[in-house]
Amino acid sequence: ATLALLAARAIALPPPEKLPASPTPPDPLVITDGPRITTAKDWHAKRAPGLRALFQNYEYGLRPREVAPVATIIREDKNALGGKATLREISVDTTLAANPVHLLVIVPNKQTRPAPCFLGMSFQPVYTLLADPLIKMPADGSEGKRGSRASRWPVEQIIDRGYALACFFNGDIMVDSPAPAKEALKRFAKAAGVNPDAPNAPGTIMAWAWGYSRMFDCLKDIPGIDTRRVAIVGHSRNGKAALLAAAFDERFALVIPNQAGCGGTAPSRVSADDAKPGPKGRPRVETVAAITSRFPHWFCQNFSTFAGAPEKLPFDQHALIALCAPRPVLISCATKDVWANPPGQLAMLRAADPVYQLVAKEGLRAGVTEMPATGKLIDSRLGFFIREGKHDMTHEDWRAWLDYADKWLR
Ligand code: GCU
Repeated sequence: ATLALLAARAIALPPPEKLPASPTPPDPLVITDGPRITTAKDWHAKRAPGLRALFQNYEYGLRPREVAPVATIIREDKNALGGKATLREISVDTTLAANPVHLLVIVPNKQTRPAPCFLGMSFQPVYTLLADPLIKMPADGSEGKRGSRASRWPVEQIIDRGYALACFFNGDIMVDSPAPAKEALKRFAKAAGVNPDAPNAPGTIMAWAWGYSRMFDCLKDIPGIDTRRVAIVGHSRNGKAALLAAAFDERFALVIPNQAGCGGTAPSRVSADDAKPGPKGRPRVETVAAITSRFPHWFCQNFSTFAGAPEKLPFDQHALIALCAPRPVLISCATKDVWANPPGQLAMLRAADPVYQLVAKEGLRAGVTEMPATGKLIDSRLGFFIREGKHDMTHEDWRAWLDYADKWLR
């Protein structure tokens, strides 16, 4: 497979203040100062590369060059989960992350052909996924946390359904804290060919997205995994990174950004009502102003300049979804996760639909104009799922995701 990367990086893009305002999300099919795209071929050749350049320049920063990571298997257990699976712990030198990445890969033993695989990034080191005393714990880990994140990663359910799971910790790629990230991002900037202080130097979301691609590189050497059928998943900030990863790397067959919200699957252009500060001084939904003030290290510096004027962004997040076309994208939400703006996420999915109709001849199921019932999976190529409850990643979510993957990867 090819990497759809980095094209048009060199074109001179105007500084944010010079961009025209567009109160509604710009049409992803219209080339900036150019014509409307009418064929799938032109989308891929003429529009997608330019959009990738815009996202890099104004939101996430430039993507570091692709490198070949060095993977070393440090432990193999052919009898994991009571004999159902083979578990491998792999140490990956990505060349850019400060430390080796601890990649955990669990493959079902019962298979008639190589298994499809979920690749996920976690908020905690991977020994928190399973109560397995042998999984390597980092120096600052604690025995009490072993398996403490099992509620987010139903490993046995995934294996029983015939899928492999590969998972890595976001902190192994890039630390999630402004000051240390500023330091660690310098190497990523250098590898992107840009000065670390440049307004389009990469932020952590770009670094994490790049990390997903490096972990994918390692999967090809693991027996029993079909790398043509890899679904990537991430929750919240990790979901923003998963969507960005899929938009820039065509090897991912399917993507599930979970409750990714602002800077992910929710619009940067929010209504005046949604943006108005409430009793706690916070807007109702997360805005560019809110996210860039609390998490400046997630984005490139240019993105903060849109805090007071998101209407100047030459794209909205529907265009990032569209960059995954024709591959299936499932947006997953929760009713109480107002901050991540579920109606806005549905609006972005709908706004990506014209690109899918052009490129894939199908997108979101016809008639999905309003919020679907909770717990009911919309399993079209552009898919949607909302469950009752709060901001989290649960076994109920995974059940829907596995159903979705059964439809598209089997
Ligand atoms: C915060 C942030 C969100 C983010 C979330 C998370 O709530 O405002 O943008 O998605 O953290 O990563 O859990």
